[in-house]
Amino acid sequence: MATVSLESFCSEIERCRVEALCALETAAAEEHLERARVEFAGARSGRLKSIQKQLGALEAADRPAGGRHFNELKTAITAALEAAQTRLARVAAAADAIDVTLPGQPFRIGHVHPITQTIRRVQEIMSRLGFESVDGPEVEDQWHNFEALAIGAEHPARDPLDNFYLAVAHGADPLLLRSQTSTVQIRIMEQRKPPLRIVSLGRVYRPDTADATHYPMFHQVEGLLVEPGATMADLKGVLRFLASSFLGGDVHVRFRPSFFPFTEPSVEFDMEWGGRWVEMGGAGMVDPAVLAAVGYDPATVSGFAFGLGVERIAARRYGVADIRDFYRNDVRFLQQF
Ligand code: PHE
Repeated sequence: MATVSLESFCSEIERCRVEALCALETAAAEEHLERARVEFAGARSGRLKSIQKQLGALEAADRPAGGRHFNELKTAITAALEAAQTRLARVAAAADAIDVTLPGQPFRIGHVHPITQTIRRVQEIMSRLGFESVDGPEVEDQWHNFEALAIGAEHPARDPLDNFYLAVAHGADPLLLRSQTSTVQIRIMEQRKPPLRIVSLGRVYRPDTADATHYPMFHQVEGLLVEPGATMADLKGVLRFLASSFLGGDVHVRFRPSFFPFTEPSVEFDMEWGGRWVEMGGAGMVDPAVLAAVGYDPATVSGFAFGLGVERIAARRYGVADIRDFYRNDVRFLQQF
């Protein structure tokens, strides 16, 4: 055998050490570790074995030093092999510690808020009669909240104490948080030609003191139908259909004379619920002046509109005595619906 210098023997040992430790320390699975073990420590053709064979090719004087280096390499690789085995065994044990057959913890699935449930239900019922759901802005101008609805400058409904006006630049008409969803009647009629059937559900704002039946923010359902020949009888039929479908069973609707600047005649309507008449909202035939204000011809079309409180009908349906409970976000309350 040709002689090998101690220097090249040692550099071979060094290379083997670096590669072996790297392979063993990074082995992430049993089969990687086994491959590394065979490559470096395999009994027949492992790298350690071939280095050991080269020992015999060193000059006799170099053999003791070469032997020492070889033994150090062998110890280092053996230790790294054991460390890697321990590490992989620990990973495997941790994986076994998760018993995938355990039934698991029950977890609570949320659901839609009762007010949103009510809104969706009303939209669904009205859609069966061909009423399309539309939206309008919550920040309104005076035209849509008042003027186009024939609520003149002197009307008490415009009182700053009864509305949330927003501060605007001096001279401009102040905007406000809409006090009713009737604004959407105007916005839609300005955009579309009759016939139309729309329903709009959304938030309205009035500076009321919060109590069991009032809150400074609440929701309204606004319905509007404009067609040739629409009458109060159609209004009553639609409201009765809505009430019966929403509350279930045969619900009766009652009209009481009332006044709204934008409907003529105007009514308050009640539903019979549990043997009692419950006030639900306002309604009426759209005033011809309103139709004219949006460019419709009151001689060829007529319409009806109604507005009712979402909290009120939700409270009826779910038997809730205090509407403030809808806003407290107490899951013990909300999870009942
Ligand atoms: N907007 C009215 C209110 O908030 C209700 C209403 C709507 C009355 C539509 C008539 C027609 O009190």
